[in-house]
Parts: sequence; C-alpha cells; structure tokens
Amino acid sequence: MDEGTEIINALMSPEAAADPYPLYRRARELGPAVPVWDDMLLATDYATVHQLLRDPKFGVPAREHHEAFEPTFAEHSSLVTISNSILWTNAPHHARVRSLIASVFTARRIALLAPAVEAAVARMLDELAELGAGGTPVDFMDTFAFRLPVGVICELLGVPEQDRYRFRALATDLTVALEVLAGSEELAAADEATEELRGYFAELAAQRRAHPREDLVSALVQVVDGAEQRLSDEELLANLVLLLVAGFETTTNLLGNGLDLVFRHPWTLDGLRTGRIAPASFTEEVLRYESPVQLTTRVPLAAGLSVAGVPVPEKGGLFLLLGGANRDGARYVDPDVFDPLRTDSQPLSFGGGVHYCLGAQLAKLEATTALPALLNRFPTLARAGEPVRRARLVLRGFESFPLLLAG
Ligand code: HEM
Repeated sequence: MDEGTEIINALMSPEAAADPYPLYRRARELGPAVPVWDDMLLATDYATVHQLLRDPKFGVPAREHHEAFEPTFAEHSSLVTISNSILWTNAPHHARVRSLIASVFTARRIALLAPAVEAAVARMLDELAELGAGGTPVDFMDTFAFRLPVGVICELLGVPEQDRYRFRALATDLTVALEVLAGSEELAAADEATEELRGYFAELAAQRRAHPREDLVSALVQVVDGAEQRLSDEELLANLVLLLVAGFETTTNLLGNGLDLVFRHPWTLDGLRTGRIAPASFTEEVLRYESPVQLTTRVPLAAGLSVAGVPVPEKGGLFLLLGGANRDGARYVDPDVFDPLRTDSQPLSFGGGVHYCLGAQLAKLEATTALPALLNRFPTLARAGEPVRRARLVLRGFESFPLLLAG
C-alpha cells in the first residue's frame, strides 16, 4: 500500500481522533498533493489548500457528482438535502442562492445580536452555576457548549424555545453524512434526522409565511415570496436545515476545543482573565490549532487538471486538510505551539473563496463572548476528569467535558 493511502486510512481510525497532527505532518512531507486510494488526492499544505479553495476549476461535490459516483445517492435524504443547500452547490447556481441568503443573513444582523449573545451567556452561566452548585460535576458540552450556539441560531431563525433542545441529537446524526466514510447505518440515522428537520422547518416556514415576525425564517420566506429572484421551496428548506446544523455543531466544538486549550495551557487562563490576551486572538488561535472543521472536499470541474504537478483523477477529487494546513511550518513559526499572541494568522478553518463560511462572524462573536465570561465567572474552574473526544475526523470536538465550577 502506498504511503498516502496508509496515512488517509490511519486518519479514518478512532486512534487518530486523539491526535491527527503527526499524520498531517507525514502527509505534508510527501508533498503538496498526495495520491490516496485510487481516485483521490490529499492537499496537504497551506498554500495549496488556500489556492484550491479559491480556484474556480474546482468545486464542491454537487448533486451531479454524487449521482455519477454513488448509486444509492437519491435514496438518502441527508445527502440530497445537503446537495440542495449552498454547501454542495457550484457556480452559477451557488452565487444566486448564496446572495439571496446573504441578503438577510447580514453582518449588520449579526452585529446587532451582540447584546443578545451576552445576555444568553449570562443566563446560561447562571444555569451552569445552579447545576454545579456544591461541587457537583457538570458536563460543559451538554450544559453550555451546545446550548449557547443552539440558542443563538434558533433565536436568529425564530425557532421557539421549547423546540430547541432536541436538535442536538438530530444534528449529530445528520452531520455524519459529512464524514468521509459514513456507514449505511449511520447514513440511515442521518436520513431520519434530515426528514424530521425538514418536516419541522416546512411547518415553521408555513407559519411564518402566514404570520411573519422579525426573524430569519420570516425574512427568507419573504425572499421566496417577494423578490424577483426567488428561493424555491426546496432551496429554502435545504438551506434552513443547513443553517441550523452548520450553526451549532461547529460552534459547540469551537467552545469545547477552546476550553480544552485553556486547561492545557494554564498561562492563557490568566491572560484571558486580565485581558492581556484579547478574546479575538485567542479564538483565532483555537481555530488554527484545533480547527472544528478539519477537512473539506473538492472535485475537478474540468478534465486534465493537476495540482502541484500531480494529475487530479477525473472520477475522484481532493481532500483539503484544513487542520493540517493550519499547522504548516512553511506558513507558521512553530506551528505546533499554541500561541494566542500570534498576529496575521488567517487560519483556513472557515474555508475560503465563494464557499467561505457564512457564519464565521457569528461563531467568533459567540466564542469571544462566552469563554472569557466563563473563566471570570468561575475563578476556580477545573476539570473533573478527562474530556472525551468524538471519534470523528471532519468535525473535531468533544463528546463530554466534565467540569468542577468551584474548588
Ligand atoms: C467555529 C464554527 C464554524 C466553523 C469552523 C465553520 C466552518 C465552515 C467551513 C470550513 C465552511 C466551508 C466548507 C467548504 O468550503 O467546503 C463553512 C461553510 C458554511 N458555514 Fe460554517 N462554520 C462555523 C460556524 C457556522 C455558523 C455559526 C453558521 C451559521 C449560522 C455557519 C454556516 C455556514 C454555511 C451556510 C456555509 C456554506 C457556505 C457556502 O457554501 O456558500 N457556519 N463553514
């Protein structure tokens, strides 16, 4: 077996979930583009991943790609729904739908959310304090890291409070469809979760169509109903599911990964409490060092393409190692050192080019608000045991993270 294939196979193993970085380094040492399996390349370094994200000759694996290479594609509601969202749509269709969504999911709308995010953080810290009173250990992932992003994205979308908490299991099931090798049982669970979310949003959209409010679902429905260029019902539904799922699974992991790095580098705790480390640069370094999204995929949109002199298999594509590119020694000094005082970091954790993450500003707002507030609220915060990582490659984060709030 060639070394590239050995590396990608090892990356798929549960052991690599603990620490994939030595494998990324080995892959980088083989070159910027490394053939793996029979039909894929690994893009391993910062410059190559950065360039591929922006190269219009490469696209995301859209419906046509799945239909050509996955005989059972049409049977999977999860895959079909994601491919009807902007995440898996290419030009020119992508630009049309993305601009309609971006016309309501604006930087201004996100900036206006800052006080609401602060209030949500304060409320959730109160709840955490109650749960952890008297030295009872609490699970940070369940009681905070999940609740905050789900609360914020649901507030934005207009999902009523009583419906929010069941979304965690649904999102967890659905996002398995984004992993490189999803098994058939996992895909069945992803399909079931997708159907439930589609049903939920179809009903919510119908309610908001009849009685609009000041929320994103109402705004998106009006884009459908009012604008000259419209979102179809299917585009609306698929993108609502995407916004919900993309909106908290990743941010939950950013919060968990951030807290883990604080404990692994205790000096940052003081720095954050005293303000010597700016929350924004801390968050940027967490994104670089432990990216919540480790890998994304691109496929060639034309024949005869090559990357760094290596031919791209026409019937395959490329895995872009975002998490590996972020640790590239050619781009970063001491790439394996966690240093929140870095400047000009620009990690590739939110992707780049036309698919650049629509929620980057929101995710940063949540993390920069939440982590310093948590550390200041509980001066003797400590781990109550080892955090448990999820055995996933693409979405990197913790399943549970036990904490003691007071010593
Ligand atoms: C730390 C948190 C987050 C990370 C690391 C992250 C990462 C990413 C990445 C890497 C992509 C590009 C995928 C590709 O090019 O193949 C992406 C796209 C996207 N993200 Fe995020 N994301 C985060 C939070 C959010 C939030 C909070 C939202 C929404 C509320 C969101 C919505 C989206 C959407 C809609 C896209 C698709 C954009 C397009 O294809 O045009 N994300 N995200």
